Amino acid sequence: MNQNTQIALVTGASSGIGSATAKLLAESGFRVIGAGRNVEALETLCAALGDQFFPLALDVNDWDSVSTLFDRLPMEYHQIDVLVNNAGHDIGGRRRFDEGDVEQWVNIIETNISGVVRVTKLIVEGMVARGAGHVVNMGSVAGLHGYASGAMYSASKHAIHGFSESLRLDYVGSGIRVTEILPGLVKTQFAANRFSYASDNEEKAEEFYQSAGKWLIPEDIARSIVFALQQPENVTISQLVVVPS
Ligand SMILES: NC(=O)c1ccc[n+]([C@@H]2O[C@H](COP(=O)([O-])OP(=O)(O)OC[C@H]3O[C@@H](n4cnc5c(N)ncnc54)[C@H](OP(=O)(O)O)[C@@H]3O)[C@@H](O)[C@H]2O)c1
Repeated sequence: MNQNTQIALVTGASSGIGSATAKLLAESGFRVIGAGRNVEALETLCAALGDQFFPLALDVNDWDSVSTLFDRLPMEYHQIDVLVNNAGHDIGGRRRFDEGDVEQWVNIIETNISGVVRVTKLIVEGMVARGAGHVVNMGSVAGLHGYASGAMYSASKHAIHGFSESLRLDYVGSGIRVTEILPGLVKTQFAANRFSYASDNEEKAEEFYQSAGKWLIPEDIARSIVFALQQPENVTISQLVVVPS
């Protein structure tokens, strides 16, 4: 491997935005560690991207899985320059708060906030030691404004907003940059997963997108991430709000 090749870890690379981001990063010259629980999907991506890509089994909700991450990585992938905290969900969401399931509500917080905290804590230590790195957190416009039937998802993305703002200030002058990406609606498996409590979840998801009338595609967000990463060292893209035209 070229010594100058940057290494990016993308969580939730098995689907949607994470998958498109892993692909575009690989095409842009990064070596990419694509992480997730669905190893079969990661291996399919690996077959398409070749040795630019390493599939990593990872459950961001499980500290044992996160803390042993380096044990499952070849040595040449240990120096992670870029962390894209993308894994997240709204499973059980789009319901009035009292109508939802408490385990599902708590799991949204576990994955979307605690998962980001676990992975960032592990990876940022190397960045601090090297005095260089870039953390990209996947926020949402739901992190700027609440909406009906979105209490937990919106709460989780508000937390990502605050986390990103504060993390950026922690590392001012250290060589570590922090970017928050805040997408509007993107067409992925996200909506079908959200409605997984219903047997017609795929239909519900399609209705949801059609009623919105317009949406982004994962590649739109992947481009925004690569744009933020490709800025010169003196430039930090602090936040990028990306919505359908
Ligand atoms: N779609 C939208 O409209 C939209 C808008 C704004 C922000 N976002 C954010 O964008 C991110 C990606 O969403 P998406 O739309 O691409 O949804 P998606 O297609 O459902 O992908 C979600 C990804 O998160 C991963 N994930 C979930 N739980 C995980 C866990 N415990 N450990 C590791 N990975 C886990 C999944 O991987 P495995 O199942 O393999 O673990 C999957 O790759 C999320 O943070 C979401 O909140 C989405």
